[in-house]
Amino acid sequence: MTRVAIVTGGSRGIGEAISLALKDMGVTVVANYGGNDEKAREFSERTGIKAFKWDVGDHQACLDGCARVTEEVGPVDIVVNNAGITRDGTLARMSHSDWDDVMRVNLGGCFNMAKACFPGMVERGWGRIVNIGSINGQAGQYGQVNYAAAKSGIHGFTKALAQEGAKKGVTVNAIAPGYIDTDMVAAVPAAVLEKIVAKIPVGRLGHAEEIARGVAFLCSEDAGFVTGSTMSINGGQHMY
Ligand code: CAA
Repeated sequence: MTRVAIVTGGSRGIGEAISLALKDMGVTVVANYGGNDEKAREFSERTGIKAFKWDVGDHQACLDGCARVTEEVGPVDIVVNNAGITRDGTLARMSHSDWDDVMRVNLGGCFNMAKACFPGMVERGWGRIVNIGSINGQAGQYGQVNYAAAKSGIHGFTKALAQEGAKKGVTVNAIAPGYIDTDMVAAVPAAVLEKIVAKIPVGRLGHAEEIARGVAFLCSEDAGFVTGSTMSINGGQHMY
């Protein structure tokens, strides 16, 4: 049986690597994306993976988007909540909209996608939800009260929903990536990033594919006894 997966933010960065890893596993993958039409079109042409546009921070857009995927591709068995944004700045400089945007997209997106897809998974007796948290939700990070709070929230959300899905064949897990060589990390000022990399025991940034392999395992049939867990993939930067 071919499973259907939605990867949010699935056409770029870590999301792109996750989409490809699930496709390699024989899953029918749909990549959700929020903004960059040109990049999404290029991604679809290159990979053969369909891309659907909606804002995961918009509750109704998630319900509508997932209904479209169900109609055009099939019922959704796997959701990877990967879409995320940063609005870094010290508290003194952070605006309320910097706070609100990050909470709405990073944490609200997980709620919205679960509302759209979890009931169907429960009904069919099988499902996989993998939420992309962060080392910075576990350890905190200077200049990221919004992001750290949202990512930390994702870890709590994961453990709570895992309990609701456990008896129904639906597992809910999180991955906590460390610093990965994506555009998001490239936006950190070079001098700051240099100091961060110096504290990674493995001595380098991670690669998106190293996160994707963890996600693929958690989405597999083999991972049915893994639920409510957080897999840290961070080069040893934070041992949690
Ligand atoms: N701990 C303590 N003090 C720190 C610090 C830290 N980690 N980082 C900076 N400071 C200090 C600086 O030394 C400086 O002190 P002085 O004024 O006494 O010299 C002061 O704070 C101001 O630092 P900046 O010049 O950097 O301040 P800024 O206002 O220009 O920038 C910032 C602040 C935007 C937060 C910037 O420091 C920054 O971008 N930091 C990186 C944040 C980060 O790691 N983001 C991760 C993005 S990737 C991601 O989030 C993915 C993931 O999940 C891992």
